[in-house]
Amino acid sequence: MKTLAVCYSKTGNTKTVAGAVVKKLGCDLDVLQYDEKTKMVTPSRDPAEYDRVVLLSPVWAFSLSEPMKLYLDAHSRGIKAYSLIVTCGLFGLGGCVGHCKKVIGRPPEKALKIKAKAVKQGSFSLSDIFAQ
Ligand SMILES: Cc1cc2nc3c(=O)[nH]c(=O)nc-3n(C[C@H](O)[C@H](O)[C@H](O)COP(=O)(O)O)c2cc1C
Repeated sequence: MKTLAVCYSKTGNTKTVAGAVVKKLGCDLDVLQYDEKTKMVTPSRDPAEYDRVVLLSPVWAFSLSEPMKLYLDAHSRGIKAYSLIVTCGLFGLGGCVGHCKKVIGRPPEKALKIKAKAVKQGSFSLSDIFAQ
């Protein structure tokens, strides 16, 4: 199965998790570039070319980060199967899943929340979401 991990990260936590996903699945990675002035998000790969997408975003205000929302607004139609991983201070996964459902039209196959503290400590596990 051809998999693409799509990541936005402002301060590095989500990017660390994306690195672990790439290591586990041996998949491609698209790290979204976001220009705060123009509010433009720039992807480097087309999700429509992949069987599965793993979306990775920080939680912002109990929902997805703004750059990931912008990405989905432009590219959700190309997404086939997808899973969602968020990093957060405490909580907000429910709002992120709700947003994905609304925009993509179906829920993620798997959804995982990882706390920033666990990222910093290197104590998070992906085995709940990718059992291989
Ligand atoms: C604008 C903003 C809003 C945030 N809102 C939440 C929130 O609602 N709930 C939460 O648990 N953490 C929240 N956080 C914390 C981040 O989700 C958390 O630190 C995350 O791991 C940052 O990921 P990054 O290092 O990849 O940018 C927020 C952070 C920022 C910058």
